[in-house]
Amino acid sequence: MTRQSIAVMASGRGTNLAAILEAANNGKCPVDVRVVLSNKVDAPALQIARDAGVDTILFINPKDYPDRVAYDQACSKVIESHQCDWVVLAGYMRILSSGFVSHFENRLINIHPALLPSFTGADGVADALAYGVKFSGCTVHLVHEEVDAGPILAQASVPVLNDDSVESLHQRIQKEEYTLYPNTLRRLVEEEFHLEGRRVIWHT
Ligand code: GRF
Repeated sequence: MTRQSIAVMASGRGTNLAAILEAANNGKCPVDVRVVLSNKVDAPALQIARDAGVDTILFINPKDYPDRVAYDQACSKVIESHQCDWVVLAGYMRILSSGFVSHFENRLINIHPALLPSFTGADGVADALAYGVKFSGCTVHLVHEEVDAGPILAQASVPVLNDDSVESLHQRIQKEEYTLYPNTLRRLVEEEFHLEGRRVIWHT
């Protein structure tokens, strides 16, 4: 079976990274996590990558670069030097420069903890809860320059319960993320898609 290589960019806990690594190891997702990059020195995602034996694990310090463009260029250089097919954002909490986004056009993906186009931004779970929706979920999408606005590759929904807190709803959503993200990566490797306007049309 064909395998493709990915770079994961993460700023936080890295539980999606862990789910991808696990799916890659147990044959459910034909990817090799070749690079893990973080903008946070103490991101637990870095330790998850170390424990899994990922080859290239880097904290790239934003303070070492004059601006976002220079920082993103440094990240891009690492990713390209390892010939990654896909760049996977997993809780990466920095806005990407337009140069980075266009360089990786249609091979840069993100997961968002809400059913886009509703509840974009950093507080998607809290915003959905406060709005009072009865269903929320998660969305895997191609990354465009506008935040959380790229074409949708896959979604999964979960109910919102009467006694939900932001934490309990996020937990229910994350459980779906751990299946949806590796599955979508598998489809990206094994299936083709094309775009009709904003619509992602999978070929199988
Ligand atoms: C996830 O809920 C994801 O949807 C959002 O950030 C969170 C990252 O969680 N983009 P983790 O770091 O993978 O645990």
